[in-house]
Amino acid sequence: MKQFVSVNDVKNVTQLVQDALDSKANPFGEKKIGQNKTLGLLFFNPSLRTRLSTQKAAKNLGMSVMSMDLNTHGWRLEFEDGAIMNSDKAEHIKEGAAVISQYCDIIGVRTFPSLTDQEKDYQETILSQFIKHASVPVISLESATRHPLQSLTDLITIKEHQKTNRPKIVLSWAPHPKALPQAVANSFSEWMIAADMDLTITHPKGYELSPDFIKNTPIEYDQKKAFEGADFIYTKNWSSFNDYGKIIQPKSNWMITAEKMAWTHEAYFMHCLPVRRNVVVADEVLDSEKSLTIKQANNRTYAAQAVLKNILK
Ligand code: CP
Repeated sequence: MKQFVSVNDVKNVTQLVQDALDSKANPFGEKKIGQNKTLGLLFFNPSLRTRLSTQKAAKNLGMSVMSMDLNTHGWRLEFEDGAIMNSDKAEHIKEGAAVISQYCDIIGVRTFPSLTDQEKDYQETILSQFIKHASVPVISLESATRHPLQSLTDLITIKEHQKTNRPKIVLSWAPHPKALPQAVANSFSEWMIAADMDLTITHPKGYELSPDFIKNTPIEYDQKKAFEGADFIYTKNWSSFNDYGKIIQPKSNWMITAEKMAWTHEAYFMHCLPVRRNVVVADEVLDSEKSLTIKQANNRTYAAQAVLKNILK
């Protein structure tokens, strides 16, 4: 694997899930793979799970890790080619990425979308510039349009809990007070399609995702109908793609409750975290035995370990 920014970088998704499960079964058995190698983690945005689990994964492989919050501790980066740098941006990505590449064998980058410029966001301007100017492999720690480490984690967790070959998985929009990226939902759709899962997406009208990510996945605007027969409910808020970055109207009746989970086929509840209790999902669901959220967060380590292992090899 030369980079990890989407499911398209993975030759064999089934094998990658198996690699993660192998790491989970024996997390410290691969210490030699990363000996004398360094992982650099660059964050333009906050993180709890991605930062800690990816560090842990790297250390399980014997790697050294350096982590930096670029917005607060780095020089402001310029990404435009040919820019006249006479304002507040002190360093160009050309030098920045080239220099970091001399210190690191793999670079991870977290960069959220602006949610104001759809074209720039969906062109992955920042991540692409890192890939272009770095001389070492780049992994996404969540970019403007995708969160592949999360989606791999979600697939691993589903594989661990599925009772049939092709479980029904429902990606359900949920309310949120802030406009959030479409990245988790885009990426989850891509990975479930790649794994040939039976995916349905449910959301209020106006929250349609980009067809480039969801392909022919059925959309059901009636949440109750969508939930019928579901084995997994994966919940996430996202802002509008078509009315880009906007919360079209509050839809608090889309919160996941125990009453709604009763419409399903005794489904498991999933969310990538962090989650706002009693806004996105009711306590009664999040605290129930059917909630997989903490197990998902644990699997973040083994997803990252599988990806790093494949790149190092
Ligand atoms: N799920 C996830 O990526 O969590 P963090 O934003 O805390 O890293």
